[in-house]
Amino acid sequence: MSLPKPLVKPQNPHFSSGPCSKRPGYDLQQLDISTLGRSHRGKLGKAALKRACVDTAKILGLPEGYRVGVVPASDTGAVEMALWNLLGERPVEVLAWESFGSTWVTDITKQLKLDNVKTRVADYGSLPDLSAVDFQHDVVFTWNGTTSGVKVPNGDWIADDRTGLTICDATSAVFAMELPWHKLDVITYSWQKVLGGEGAHGMLILSPRAVERLESYTPPWPLPKIFRLTKGGKLIEGIFEGSTINTPSMLCVADYLDALDWVSGLGGLASLIRKSEQNLAVIKGFVDATPWIDFLAEDSATVSNTSVCLKLDASAEQIKKMVALLDSENVAYDIASYRDAPDGLRIWCGATVEASDLEALMPWLQWAYQETQ
Ligand SMILES: Cc1ncc(COP(=O)(O)O)c(C=O)c1O
Repeated sequence: MSLPKPLVKPQNPHFSSGPCSKRPGYDLQQLDISTLGRSHRGKLGKAALKRACVDTAKILGLPEGYRVGVVPASDTGAVEMALWNLLGERPVEVLAWESFGSTWVTDITKQLKLDNVKTRVADYGSLPDLSAVDFQHDVVFTWNGTTSGVKVPNGDWIADDRTGLTICDATSAVFAMELPWHKLDVITYSWQKVLGGEGAHGMLILSPRAVERLESYTPPWPLPKIFRLTKGGKLIEGIFEGSTINTPSMLCVADYLDALDWVSGLGGLASLIRKSEQNLAVIKGFVDATPWIDFLAEDSATVSNTSVCLKLDASAEQIKKMVALLDSENVAYDIASYRDAPDGLRIWCGATVEASDLEALMPWLQWAYQETQ
């Protein structure tokens, strides 16, 4: 029996995993653009940049002594800055279970060409053996694998008495998952993910131990100006107080500040995490009731509550048709799995997405599956 076309469409069909949907109620006209066309080093511009750092630390509840800086080149810029500045002092372990983690493996083994590297890799859907990691080494990993929808379940596997540093690409986790800050020495993310901000700049968060490494170790390779975090063996504190390395987009900064105000208005970090988990619950309800669809993540404790990746009992060709059909119906945009990931769907569930829109989307998935068979 053929299913009728659902009557209700999501009010907002933006389910992309990056750039992610703008927040509900977003209005470009509401941005405070008083900084535009002015120097980012002037009083006004610098204050806006400083607020981006200070409010971030406050909303995330970072421990005393953690620095927050706005850096060039989005999350990739922030991660690579950390790798190029910090690594080489001791052996490194790098964990990867999807495309972005694999990028960091390549950086470390093929670009930095470090000798003493242990690579721990798992296939799409699973995690490497976290219990095998030696925290006397520097450890590089991704909190949430955006292209496989697999996250680490918690930070219990990270040693409190570590002597190495933990460098965590947390771009699709910050503002959506509980992060144990004291177990993380470097945390990076970008604005266009969970907050639905604009792509441009990266956020680099450093623990006091990371700063200590920066001030006691100088890598043997040259560092371009865009990566430099120290001067004369000391941390350039200004980077973490609003004096960016080079010129940022003040429009993107205004947009980020608007997103932070939205977070505060919703009740802070805990509200965002809760909203994202409730969003995932909508998809889980559908998955549990539907035989032809499942999470790509094999262990339910590792299912991402932001980039939800789904595998289907369908050919690559059918999935492509489903994605195109849902797009043409203006029901869901950009929900194909990432280009390097197994064929499937990827639906963003961060807090800028509304559960009501996900609820409206589910019957459309069922309908599109049937229509494309
Ligand atoms: C886990 C992860 N790392 C890195 C990146 C690259 O981020 P950007 O484009 O902000 O540099 C992404 C983008 O989706 C990501 O999900």
